[in-house]
Amino acid sequence: MLSNSVLQRLASWCPWLLRDEPKLKQPVKVLVTGAAGQIGYAIVPMIARGLMLGLDQPVVLHMLDIPRMADALNGVRMELVDAALPLLRGVVSTTDEAEAFQGVNFAVLIGGWPRKEGMERKDLIAKNVAIYKSQAAALQQHAAPNCKVLVVANPANTNALVLKEFAPAVPARNITCLTRLDHNRALGQIAEKLGVHVGDVRNAVVWGNHSSTQFPDASHATARTEHGERPVRELVADDKWLSEEFVVTVQQRGAAVMKARKQSSSLSAASAACDHMRDWILGTPKGTWVSMGVYSDGSYGVPDGIFYSFPVTCEKGEWSIVQGEFLLFCQVDSNGSTTFS
Ligand SMILES: NC(=O)c1ccc[n+]([C@@H]2O[C@H](COP(=O)([O-])OP(=O)(O)OC[C@H]3O[C@@H](n4cnc5c(N)ncnc54)[C@H](O)[C@@H]3O)[C@@H](O)[C@H]2O)c1
Repeated sequence: MLSNSVLQRLASWCPWLLRDEPKLKQPVKVLVTGAAGQIGYAIVPMIARGLMLGLDQPVVLHMLDIPRMADALNGVRMELVDAALPLLRGVVSTTDEAEAFQGVNFAVLIGGWPRKEGMERKDLIAKNVAIYKSQAAALQQHAAPNCKVLVVANPANTNALVLKEFAPAVPARNITCLTRLDHNRALGQIAEKLGVHVGDVRNAVVWGNHSSTQFPDASHATARTEHGERPVRELVADDKWLSEEFVVTVQQRGAAVMKARKQSSSLSAASAACDHMRDWILGTPKGTWVSMGVYSDGSYGVPDGIFYSFPVTCEKGEWSIVQGEFLLFCQVDSNGSTTFS
């Protein structure tokens, strides 16, 4: 048995000897497509630092981009080496879809055709359908069984549906799309309004699509105060703000960031994608729900067979739509706009 003074001296000479290292799991493979792009550049260090799958989860990163971006992708790979990230157990950077999807346990699909000025929505969809059709084949053929997929690239709900249609062997439950950024924006707006920490606000919901037709809903949100957990509606005491300014601010937040930064949201999108996967895989905290774009089962009157953002809870790697909390019936029109009755 070493005496305290010896231990103290050891700790001062070589602190790493005595640091509590978490017991590490077996490495998993995580694919990021569009890895040379803005969100890709922000998310890969987050994943490699354990912000997505946990501080005890080593990862092998697979990064895919198009051939034109091969040099930039290699630059990202070099930076990952230079960052000396202990949880990062390998990097595959490639422009080949089959190699990128080979054996991956998790796939974050960020790569896609960007919307350019003057481009019509149908043209954007057509470009992305081709990309997602091809990636669906690679997913089905090369990914690990039970691979869990998050689609970030817009139009995210449509891309997720294309993936599902063209990868019929992949369970629809394993394909989701990102509306967590909108969910987090809603929490952020409520926290600012109440002057509380965002970690004390929970259970807002974003219904619908990641687009300006979405419906951010604070009707069941709560905030922790010194008097206990209270409904946000009661604390804000301004129904007009909640039903008008709050909704429009969240819906238009992406455009506001774009106007200010001259570039679209990246760090918040990357952070939201990590939150989405972490809660899906590791579970939502008790009594907390989050918004995820999932394959509709007809809950709340939302047509089945589309990807739509619902309040969900997650446990043991499975999501479930929150039932019985909302006395709502949604009607979705052909533009994806939701009205409630
Ligand atoms: N769902 C959301 O909440 C949300 C939020 C923000 C951005 N987005 C979307 O995420 C996407 C990426 O945004 P960004 O800012 O990183 O864009 P970006 O243009 O900086 O990066 C996109 C990357 O994808 C690559 N790419 C294009 N086609 C590809 C393919 N077939 N395979 C692999 N990679 C391919 C491009 O070369 C580029 O490097 C966009 O579609 C954007 O609209 C979604």
